[in-house]
Amino acid sequence: MQIFTNIAEIQEWCKAQKREGKTIGLVPTMGYLHQGHLALVRAARQACDIVVVSIFVNPIQFGVGEDFEDYPRDLTKDSQVLEQERADAVFAPSIKEMYPTGYNSFVEVLGEISSKLCAKSRPTHFRGVTTVVSKLFNICLPDKAFFGQKDAQQVMIIEKIVRELNFPLSIVRVPIVREEDGLALSSRNVYLDADKRKQALVLSKSLQAARELIKSGERNVDRVKALLTDTIKTSPDANIDYAEIYDAADLSELDVIKGQVLIALAVKFGTTRLIDNLLVEV
Ligand code: PAJ
Repeated sequence: MQIFTNIAEIQEWCKAQKREGKTIGLVPTMGYLHQGHLALVRAARQACDIVVVSIFVNPIQFGVGEDFEDYPRDLTKDSQVLEQERADAVFAPSIKEMYPTGYNSFVEVLGEISSKLCAKSRPTHFRGVTTVVSKLFNICLPDKAFFGQKDAQQVMIIEKIVRELNFPLSIVRVPIVREEDGLALSSRNVYLDADKRKQALVLSKSLQAARELIKSGERNVDRVKALLTDTIKTSPDANIDYAEIYDAADLSELDVIKGQVLIALAVKFGTTRLIDNLLVEV
């Protein structure tokens, strides 16, 4: 497995792979890899000849006062894990390599899809994500890029830039990987102490409860949302950022549940903000 830190070098290497007729699968990450990330790597390994994993804690997607400095990092361990997963290349650039002095180009999606859910409390977050992901597409030249359904709004926005800016690649969505007790895997779970870790189970529990209510015939969005918030509030330290139900295609508003809906949550436990979601089809 090759480890690159230089943009020109990995771009040349990817071009050479393509000249040999190989397909490239890209898995963008911020590192501190867990089984959720590895599900993406395995999907890429299955689908593509060459697997490139990027590891870059992208400063421009963190807001002021967010956890950029504290975000967990372990490039040595991540590289070992990726070697075992038979990744072909890791791209781990420095901040200066990605954003040299004077850097001033950004990719931004406007409209409903990037003004709801996480965008409300993190107004510059998705512009940071779409900018870095666009750069990674141009650097690594993937045929397919793999993203987790864990970050549902993120993958929707990335699918939109691929369509609208005509990136010559396809996006593969990978389902959420959870712990046995239901907690969605996240690099940020390491911030939780034992008590908050237990309380955090209300995220997946409330999603399941909402699904059951819909399955039993309830179609009123407000009543399902009320069940979500009531369930979350059973945890004393849970501070709800949002608990919403939108059309899964474009995040448009719904009064009545129909078609495929996205039930999406962001909840803070102390300073740790966790997200989770569920797609439900009726
Ligand atoms: P990061 O949080 O490291 O996640 C990298 C990828 O792993 C994302 O596509 C995310 O949805 C996926 N992922 C994380 N936890 C998962 C889980 N439990 N199950 C399935 N997939 C999971 O998302 C980012 O980094 C960044 O915003 C990035 C896209 C790399 C741009 O900087």
